[in-house]
Amino acid sequence: MKSKIGLGKEEYLWAKNRMPILTNLVRKYSKNRILGDFNLGMCLHITKETAVLVMGLAEVGARISLCAANPLSSKENVSEFLRYHNSNVDIFVNRQDDIDSFYNNMDKVLDTNPQIVTDDGAELHKKAVYRDQSFVGGTEETTSGVNRLRRLSNEGLLSYPVIAVNESLMKQLLDNGHGTGQSTLEGIINTTGIIVASKRIVVCGYGWVGKGVARCARGLGAKVTITEVEPLKAMEAFFDGYEVDELEKLLSINDIFITCTGQINIIGREHFSKLKDGAILCNAGHFDVEIDVRYLDRIYPRHYEPKPNVTCYTVNDALGKSKRIYVMTKGRVVNLIGAEGNSPEVMDISFSNQFLAIVYLSKMSSKLANRVYKPPRKLDNKLARLALSRYKIRIDKLSQEQKDYFKK
Ligand SMILES: NC(=O)c1ccc[n+]([C@@H]2O[C@H](COP(=O)([O-])OP(=O)(O)OC[C@H]3O[C@@H](n4cnc5c(N)ncnc54)[C@H](O)[C@@H]3O)[C@@H](O)[C@H]2O)c1
Repeated sequence: MKSKIGLGKEEYLWAKNRMPILTNLVRKYSKNRILGDFNLGMCLHITKETAVLVMGLAEVGARISLCAANPLSSKENVSEFLRYHNSNVDIFVNRQDDIDSFYNNMDKVLDTNPQIVTDDGAELHKKAVYRDQSFVGGTEETTSGVNRLRRLSNEGLLSYPVIAVNESLMKQLLDNGHGTGQSTLEGIINTTGIIVASKRIVVCGYGWVGKGVARCARGLGAKVTITEVEPLKAMEAFFDGYEVDELEKLLSINDIFITCTGQINIIGREHFSKLKDGAILCNAGHFDVEIDVRYLDRIYPRHYEPKPNVTCYTVNDALGKSKRIYVMTKGRVVNLIGAEGNSPEVMDISFSNQFLAIVYLSKMSSKLANRVYKPPRKLDNKLARLALSRYKIRIDKLSQEQKDYFKK
């Protein structure tokens, strides 16, 4: 039988072979060890794609301390492979970690005095602020993390520059949109085994993630309805051909609810008893706050797991009739816990962005202010060109006449 380390290595190689943009960047920068002796602190979902990023950063000279961005999303084979295969990587994650050790692991990463921190959700950044710890710079991978960092920056609490990698258009289109759309549906299907075609699905939030999830669900034959709070987003969803309605009206007639908002209590205590018997609830947003699972656990302590990653609660409606509702992956990111997260092709773009942002900070941070920066559009264009050439796609160029016409 293969060891966990061996299986982790196979997964790493599987991903690496599908991440040529990042691999080529690593090859280019490893010649002069561009991050030679740089100490990086990282808090990411520990997946095979993250292993490709971390091993790549070690190859260009960095020393890395890594912890998990979610208590349930780490892939054990991958973490074992990283633990034993690179002396430049310290990994602070263990299978038996509970919520306290999950947060303690972040402290362990910060105790290594990293110069640059890379986070997914801004927990590490928040802890650093609490510890009054500063860095050369930081990067942030996801929407909820960037929103938090902007709040810290507005309160004058950010003591280093941060590149909001999430705000690269390539990242939003491919990772939040296509990647999370597909992997969320994978998470639901893997975990429940249900057929999506014919199901009535509500997608809460029509931002980057919601749009991708809705598109994939519709592509698989579901009848999709969107809920929104922003009029423009709601109009966009309507003209994209979806039903749009208030959540309250949808509770009793839909089979599956997928939250994608980054907000709190989207499906909360006032909703559970109005759901249809057998309704499935899951979350694709970063934090486990979109479905009020804490309330369910407290009020219905006799819940049970009919399948791994599915919790059944029996709730009573207003007439005292009992019904079962199923919450997937304890309300945490369904695509990373119920499935493998975003595909390597997608993470090739996201992590190439991270890689370039870290290299940029290692050289330029002294010229930056202590605030959150959007990645420059130039970087998006560069990555788009690299991606087009990876897929052997050629595009036209403006003629001189067309360039001049734009100038008039
Ligand atoms: N699971 C993953 O792999 C993954 C990947 C990328 C992003 N994320 C996370 O997904 C979440 C959404 O990210 P995004 O990039 O789509 O953000 P976004 O800001 O583009 O979209 C969020 C949308 O939710 C809407 N919304 C807010 N409150 C709402 C409410 N009460 N009801 C209905 N809609 C509401 C907003 O108007 C907005 O359109 C964030 O938490 C982000 O960090 C997860």
